Amino acid sequence: MDQSVSKLSEVKLETSFQDQKPGTSGLRKSSQQFAQENYLESFIESIFQTLPGVFGGVLILGGDGRYGNKRAIDVIIRMAAAHGVSKIITGINGIISTPAASHLIRTREAIGGIILSASHNMGGENGDFGVKINADNGGPASEVLTEAIYKCTKTLEKYKIAEASPIPIDIKGIYSIGDMSIEVLDGVDDYIDLMKSIFQFDLIKSLLASNFPIAFDAMNAVTGPYAKRLFEDLLEAPSNTVRNFIPLEDFGGMHPDPNLTYAKDLAYLLLNGDEYSFGAACDGDGDRNMVLGQRCFVNPSDSLAILVANYSCVPGYKNGLSGVARSMPTSSAVDVVAKELDIPCYETPTGWKFFGNLLDAGKITLCGEESFGTGSNHIREKDGLWAILFWLQILSVKKCSVSQVMRDHWNRFGRHYYSRHDYESIPSDIANQIYKKVELTLPAMIGTSFADGIVQTADNFSYLDPIDHSITNNQGLRIILDNGNRVILRLSGTGTQGATIRVYFESYVPPSGKLDQDPQEALSLLISGIEKLAEIKLLSGMSRPTVIT
Ligand code: G1P
Ligand code: ZN
Repeated sequence: MDQSVSKLSEVKLETSFQDQKPGTSGLRKSSQQFAQENYLESFIESIFQTLPGVFGGVLILGGDGRYGNKRAIDVIIRMAAAHGVSKIITGINGIISTPAASHLIRTREAIGGIILSASHNMGGENGDFGVKINADNGGPASEVLTEAIYKCTKTLEKYKIAEASPIPIDIKGIYSIGDMSIEVLDGVDDYIDLMKSIFQFDLIKSLLASNFPIAFDAMNAVTGPYAKRLFEDLLEAPSNTVRNFIPLEDFGGMHPDPNLTYAKDLAYLLLNGDEYSFGAACDGDGDRNMVLGQRCFVNPSDSLAILVANYSCVPGYKNGLSGVARSMPTSSAVDVVAKELDIPCYETPTGWKFFGNLLDAGKITLCGEESFGTGSNHIREKDGLWAILFWLQILSVKKCSVSQVMRDHWNRFGRHYYSRHDYESIPSDIANQIYKKVELTLPAMIGTSFADGIVQTADNFSYLDPIDHSITNNQGLRIILDNGNRVILRLSGTGTQGATIRVYFESYVPPSGKLDQDPQEALSLLISGIEKLAEIKLLSGMSRPTVIT
């Protein structure tokens, strides 16, 4: 279908928007905020005026299928045509997971990508929407770029858009508007090829055929089509393996965050029954993963450490790992493995973009975060299905259960008891008051006793990037004890309602210690210690955290 641009319009903005500051994952707001006239257009215009190479460049465009995707894709295609983009590549119905988009940016030599998602936040008319900008390396845009986009939104007076009827993105093909072509591809194909180049599908297939039933929950979000193809078509798991596999605009009311609270049906199946040997789920845009074994939950920090310890099971990494990285609040379980492997282990602030420089410079091969995110140098985003395949590959090689892999790991390296407590939707002024109070108390805590140790470090984490030497401050309050135990307190940067306080607890037990405690019990002194200091429950009026991981 060819369309010549009947008209190029310049639309005047009555007022410029002042609230379009992108966070760690782009501009994330409620669907209702995005419904304001010209709100989306203002942000997109600012991207097109700021992103290098727009005129004549190739752009990847897609999303997780949530409410707002269809309209946004139509608007962005027409605005791209007005800005002289040479080609837009999108998936059928605009469906492209975040990891698949990262891969396409890299293989199609695009100038970057626009990913329409609010990740693990709820969707629908009353949920959230988001616009994420990825750079030409396939990773989240740098702070310098997002700041420049933000600056542009504040003074913007008009935007450019082509008038053309919508492209039929439900059908694969090549279309055009004026000089710009639009390729609608099956977003799943390229991604599957990439996975085949890393893992041994035949080996995993034999595991699944050997009385090893698995369940995967796509949470009515983007991974449904990918998981159906992977697990059921290629790895030949039974046809009911993938649950909630049709991407829905409101995720069928599910909160597409794969944790024990929001993926509770899957968690219940695995933790209370013997029907499945392995269970997994991904989030709205497919970059997060949760892994469960029979009656066993794999903490994401442990998951990263286990993948690193077992890298040699995976052909894609047979040449070894150059190094690894974890975000600061992620447990030190991976540090212990890196030490044993004699490879560097970097500690970065929260957010995937901080891994980008290390990956681009070849300093690290695997990396991850406590928030159900794991990934490698194969792309520049975390990758939910990749992590799940990594686990299945390890299990195929070791021919044992998930719980056995974990037990072996703890017996060898010791166990880092770990938990994260989230207090969601607290009024912002109260959350800030709690955070400030703790921050002001920190200097006086050094050398005093706290929980089961003496405070050795009490500060607000700042990061010196070893590649570009930039400094990022204010990345979370740390209380580190002389026995290595830690409590971290952060304010979330991805919520849209009020503020969310995250408290992270970590306590190490060597292989000779008690390895089978309940984490909440093992961490109880740290948990009561921070409540005494921060008074989160008292000041927020919440009797317990919203989510405990
Ligand atoms: C959360 C996670 C963080 C992750 C980000 C994007 O951010 O904690 O690890 O990188 O989502 O998926 P937060 O809300 O804590 O700022
Ligand atoms: Zn996500």
